[in-house]
Amino acid sequence: MEQTQNDNKKIVLSGIRSTGNLHLGNYYGALSKFVRMQDDYDCRFFIADLHALTTHPDPRTLHENVKDILAEYLAAGLDPEKNIIYVQSDVPEISEMYLLMNMHVGIGELMRTASFKDKARKALGINSDSDDIEKDIIGNQTNQRVNAGLLTYPTLMACDILIHKADFVPVGKDQEQHLELTRRFASRFNNFYKTDYFGKPVNFNFGGDAVKVPGLDGSGKMGKSEGNCIYLIDDEKTLRKKVMRAVTDEGPKTPGQPVSQPVENLFTLMDLVSGKETTDQYRAAYADCSIRYGDMKKQLAEDILKVTLPIRERILDIRSNEEYLSKVVRRGAEQARAYAADTLRDVREIMGIRRI
Ligand code: TYM
Repeated sequence: MEQTQNDNKKIVLSGIRSTGNLHLGNYYGALSKFVRMQDDYDCRFFIADLHALTTHPDPRTLHENVKDILAEYLAAGLDPEKNIIYVQSDVPEISEMYLLMNMHVGIGELMRTASFKDKARKALGINSDSDDIEKDIIGNQTNQRVNAGLLTYPTLMACDILIHKADFVPVGKDQEQHLELTRRFASRFNNFYKTDYFGKPVNFNFGGDAVKVPGLDGSGKMGKSEGNCIYLIDDEKTLRKKVMRAVTDEGPKTPGQPVSQPVENLFTLMDLVSGKETTDQYRAAYADCSIRYGDMKKQLAEDILKVTLPIRERILDIRSNEEYLSKVVRRGAEQARAYAADTLRDVREIMGIRRI
């Protein structure tokens, strides 16, 4: 199998689930960082199609989504000559390591993971924050939407990372708990087998804090299941409409009035796409009550389009070339498997799984 030159660079690993088109949250939380890192690190980026299975996608849709994300990676500027780009399911070593690693992962700690509780609540139609969710899950034995794959999601993610012995894992804020679990599983493995085999992978944000891109609906983060997304693939008209409809409030009535959450969200988005200087102008206008939300939204839409439209053009172009897409991930899988096979061989050896 092909192994690429490492040159002793730090190893970077990250992935995105193939559950639909990429939005600004994925872009600023993850993909734009991938692109910025590709010249300086030994980067490996993948499409998490096995993780997508936890929410039971239609098989044909899943397959198309994998190609969509791949085209979006490439259109955003990921260069297959500089990075290893692959599909998770093309590297079966990850699945075997997932089985092995699960022997050192507690059901209790998995059930307490925020993303699991969140998804389980949604699957069971429970809104409350009640900590009784564990009881609800156990009581509801036939609901296969709260499946074992969903529970062991963090183990699979840990194996994605550890199989590459990654140093940095560029992800958004919402994935930090999973990263924390990865470090916990790694050090538990090391302690149990009295080894220092695995390191402690950390998030990477160019020295800044982890990013949480808000939605346009005034509530929490931008997310596919929240239905509040701006997609990289959105056309100009759709995108402008979404931004102009973003939730705001009645506007400041007294100078220095605190900013409401929906308006703060727009400032946060503006910071990302327009830069701090522009945002500061609007913040000042808010502070002296001269702000006009309509103008601010127009500016925001304009600046988002400057980022997304060129990417959209390239997505449409690359997505239609399936032969090229296939070539990229076939080579990527070869390269990723070479590293994964080495780690899996070591892990099996450490755990005592040997041929007789
Ligand atoms: P996923 O597919 O939900 O999201 C992909 C990436 O986008 C980031 N993200 C955001 N960042 C900021 N603000 C938002 N509103 C926002 N929405 C999404 C996520 O933080 C993530 O970085 N479990 C992962 C996929 C995965 C993975 C891995 C990642 C599987 N194995 C190994 C890194 C390493 C996930 O579901 O991401």
